[in-house]
This record gives sequence, C-alpha cells and structure tokens, in this order.
Amino acid sequence: MSAAGSQAGTPTRGLHAKVVAISIGAALGGFLFGFDSSVINGAVDSISSEFALSDTFTGFAVASALLGCAVGAWFAGGLADRFGRVRVMVISAIVFLVSAIGSAFAFGVWDLIGWRVVGGLAIGAASVIAPAYIAEVAPAAFRGRLGSLQQMAIVLGIFASLLSDEVLAGAAGGASYELWFGVEAWRWMFLTAVIPALIYGGVALTLPESPRYLVERHREKEAAAILKDYTGEPDPEGRIALIRASLGGDESLTLSDLRGPRFGLQPIVWIGILLSVFQQFVGINVIFYYSTTLWKSVGFDESDAFTTSTITSLTNIVMTLVAIALVDRIGRRTLLIIGSVGMTVSLLTMAVSFNQATVDAAGDTQLQHPWSIIALVAANAFVVFFAASWGPVVWVLLGEMFPNRLRAAALAVAAAAQWLANFTITLTFPVMAGWGLQFAYGFYALMAALSFWFVWTKVPETKGIELEDMESASVHHAAHAG
Ligand code: GLC
Repeated sequence: MSAAGSQAGTPTRGLHAKVVAISIGAALGGFLFGFDSSVINGAVDSISSEFALSDTFTGFAVASALLGCAVGAWFAGGLADRFGRVRVMVISAIVFLVSAIGSAFAFGVWDLIGWRVVGGLAIGAASVIAPAYIAEVAPAAFRGRLGSLQQMAIVLGIFASLLSDEVLAGAAGGASYELWFGVEAWRWMFLTAVIPALIYGGVALTLPESPRYLVERHREKEAAAILKDYTGEPDPEGRIALIRASLGGDESLTLSDLRGPRFGLQPIVWIGILLSVFQQFVGINVIFYYSTTLWKSVGFDESDAFTTSTITSLTNIVMTLVAIALVDRIGRRTLLIIGSVGMTVSLLTMAVSFNQATVDAAGDTQLQHPWSIIALVAANAFVVFFAASWGPVVWVLLGEMFPNRLRAAALAVAAAAQWLANFTITLTFPVMAGWGLQFAYGFYALMAALSFWFVWTKVPETKGIELEDMESASVHHAAHAG
C-alpha cells in the first residue's frame, strides 16, 4: 500500500486525488445519516395504521431514532480514540445493517422503535466519525471543501430515500401494500438501507487509519506512510512531530478533560455545542420532516408531496455545492454570518405570512394569495441560506476546530447536543404548530437572529489553519472575544 518515494520531488501540499477519495469514503457515513433519518417519511403513515398508533405516539416513534443518534454520537468519541476512526466506521456500518433488517421485519411498534434506536446509534457514531476523519486527513487549504462532502452525502442520502420510498410505494400501489415476497412496501423502504450500509462498510475496510490517531497510538511509521501516500504531506516527519506536540501527554483523554473554568466546560467546547444547537433550532428539519404540512397550507395537495419534497431536496443539494465552492475562500465565519442573516429574514417572512393564515373547516391552516406565494418563496429561501452555510459549515467546524487532543471527545459531546436539539425541535413542532405556525417560525427566526450574534462574537475563523495550530488559534480568539 505504501507508495513512499513515489511522491518524492512533489513537495507541494496540493489536493491529492487519494485524499479526495478517502474523504468521500468517510463521507458515505453521511449518506446513511441522511438516508436513515428521512426514510421513515415514506413509511410513517403505514406504520401508524399497521400498529394503530395515535398521532402523538407516531411522532414519538419517528423521533425516537434521534435519541439513539445522541447516544451513538456521545460514545463514538471514546471508541474512536480507543479503537481508531476506521474501526468505528466499520462497526457503525454493521450496526446500521442489522437495524435496517430489524426495522423491516419489526412485528410490533416497540420492536420497531427498538431497531430504530439501534440504527440511531450507528448514525450518531457516523455523524461524529466522518467530520473528524476528514479533518484529520485533509490538507488545511482544502479542509472546508472536503469536510463539506459530509453534508453533501447527508443531503444526497435524504434525496435517495425520498426517491426510493416513492419508487417502492409506487410499485406496490401504496406503502401499506405488499410488494415482493408478501412483504409490504414500507418494510422494503427500511430494507433498502442495507445497500448503502454494505457499501459504507466495504469502503471503510479499505480506508487508511487517520494519521493523528496513529501518532496517538505511537504508530508513527504507519502515520508517516499515510501522510505521504494519501495526503501529499511534503514533510511527514515534521508534521508528526507537530501532531505529537499537540497531543500533549500520553494519557488518553476522557470526557472530564473537557472541563473548563467557564460554566463547567472549556469555551471551545461550548462553542461547538452552541453551533450544533443553533443549527437545529433554526428549524431546518421541520422543513424536511413536516414538509407536507407546510406545502398544504400554501395550497398544494397531499398528492404533490413528492414533487414539493423533491424541489426542497434538490435546492439543498445545489446550494451545498455553493458552500463547497466558497468555504475555503471566504471562510467559515463569513458563510455562517450570511446564512444567519438570510435565515432570519426568510423565517421572519414566514412568520409574518402565517400570521395572516386562516384555519379551514377541516382544521387545516390556509394562506391566501399573495401570502401563500410569499411563504413559499421564503421557505425555499430559508433552505437556500441554510444549505449554503449552517448545514455544511457546522460539520466542517466541528471536525476541525477542536485541538487534536480534544477532538474526538469534544466533537462527540457537540454532536450529541445536536441530536438532542434535533429531537427537541422534531417533538415540539407539532405543539407549536397547534398554537399557530407563526409562533413556530417566529421562534426559529429568533434563534437565527441569535445565531448571528453568536457567530459574530464567539466563533473563530479556522480557514487554512493547520489542525496542530488550532489550540493557539482558538485560545487567541477566545481571549479576544472576552
Ligand atoms: C445538517 C443537519 C441535519 C439536517 C441537514 C439538512 O446536516 O445537521 O440535521 O437534516 O443538514 O440538510
């Protein structure tokens, strides 16, 4: 495997094809993340009728996977430090595979919830491992772009599940009908996830281990070969010395090392947690999980749900490309700030529009012209701004902004916070929507406005900084931000 020597004479740290390839490999975890978190959308009505569930309980059954994600993310950091980044990817793929089969053949709702939570463990772990791994192998100048591949994979996963749900339901004549081998279409929806899980696991087996992890394990020789062969590092030995220095002592890290003087945690860990929480509290997943509610209220039919979700999903994909083009040029902070402003304005517009809404005889919210159009444009503008900024950039930052020593543990805590925040928003939206959609969107607008203030005052710029210099960079910034 080691092509040491073949790179001799090319000391530039340009973008190596191999580093792109292994980043894509790690990002496949994001595909599972996106696929699994939205595959349930096509199955949810059938599940609720098959198991005779109330609306509230259906909501809980859907959201329960997110709790598994939080737990998976929380433990992934420790596992990644102990067993290595790649092994955690392989384990996640296996757990994911098992949960897809389990969910597909669930015989009762608790059984299903159990398997969804198990799948959540894998997704949570994958959500931590991909950004960490990519940040650790990427050359600094390209780290934003490579890190954004994770978000690209997430949004492609969301899109793929949408298509596969539609195709399967279409083939059976409805998600509740039997498809092949007497198994209902909604069960096939879960079973389809076996394919990306197998691909992810297979690809993960071919990935080289992260050089930063290998140095921590005193496997400098392997680390040097990987740095040279995969990442195009011109001075592997020098880099290893820097990594070693950045790791500090030899003792392996635990969650208690994240403790700090301020509110119990180190400031940089708080920044990670708040980035995560704001990313969710602007309500992005409400748009994805409850899109039909939104589009119906602006005059679309339930039967248009597929078209409208496709539009949202494609917007998401295209705008992620924009983020990839910009993140290493204009930087993380600038993108986040633009995103916060755009999201605040679009969410406020939605809140104002829904303030004009009426409720029809069936209890459904209705918007009249021109408010329906305004709300629709605003909702799409919101996705545009999110997808080009907070969607990818938060994952990039979580992968790269922590010092080497803290990365896995701090990222795990921040990602767990993100899944809990996602759970909270998913579960509270129906309640807020019951008071009136203007309150829900008004709340998200407020969060978007606060996110602006937060980035402006607290979030450090990490563009182009080597991971080994992150500690001084973040300490420097924290000192400035007061
Ligand atoms: C980000 C969020 C995730 C969301 C996705 C939508 O990855 O972390 O929760 O579903 O963006 O594009």
